[in-house]
Amino acid sequence: MAESNKNKVIIVGCGPGLKAYISPKALYNIKKADILVGSRRLLKLFPGVDAEKIVLEKNYSVLVNRIADWSVTRQVVVLVSGDPCFFSYTKMIVKKMGRESCLIIPGISSMQLAFAAVGESWDDACFMSLHGRNNEYAQLIKKVREYTKVGILTDHKNTPAVIARHLLKSGIPERQMFVCENLSLPEESIRETDLVSAVHLKTTGASVVIIKKY
Ligand SMILES: C[S@@+](CC[C@H](N)C(=O)[O-])C[C@H]1O[C@@H](n2cnc3c(N)ncnc32)[C@H](O)[C@@H]1O
Repeated sequence: MAESNKNKVIIVGCGPGLKAYISPKALYNIKKADILVGSRRLLKLFPGVDAEKIVLEKNYSVLVNRIADWSVTRQVVVLVSGDPCFFSYTKMIVKKMGRESCLIIPGISSMQLAFAAVGESWDDACFMSLHGRNNEYAQLIKKVREYTKVGILTDHKNTPAVIARHLLKSGIPERQMFVCENLSLPEESIRETDLVSAVHLKTTGASVVIIKKY
């Protein structure tokens, strides 16, 4: 185990999907892992890494305790999609381990890539995640009223079409809507639409939605 990282869990941001977006520092640490923890999709990006591979599914709470135990004697590297400090498992690990026991290596967030894809700055935007959440629409509506731009992480239930329906139902006036799907992957799709048209929009993959005032 490298002396400076002794007993530290390394949490690595793996970007939005394409391996080329992973930083050299992240790759360096991944290669040195004794134990690599991550989703099946992320683990598959590193077939050549000679580490014990642990699949992260819905076993978050059990696994966070194991990560803490393993890290006493072995170098644990946890892979997360996008950036670790943006709506991820990192919060749970840092809460369990303490900040001083974690080394976080940033990654390119799907949100960053979405704003880049549509040529918009994100320094004046507000963000929220509907990924795996229920009933956060009151919060979303408040943000869309208040901010010029709102970036939203979606999931298979909270799709761009469902988001558009909720916003229209709340009486929000028409807005520009960008739907950024499968970012950085071969099936990437970037669509510009409005709330009324988006009500019938079909999406299949992971997507980021940006709502912008006209
Ligand atoms: C659990 S969140 C993780 C966010 C991640 N930490 C980040 O910085 O992108 C997962 C959500 O991120 C978004 N996402 C992740 N990868 C994506 C991609 N390649 N294209 C579009 N959206 C993506 C989707 O909204 C997905 O439901």
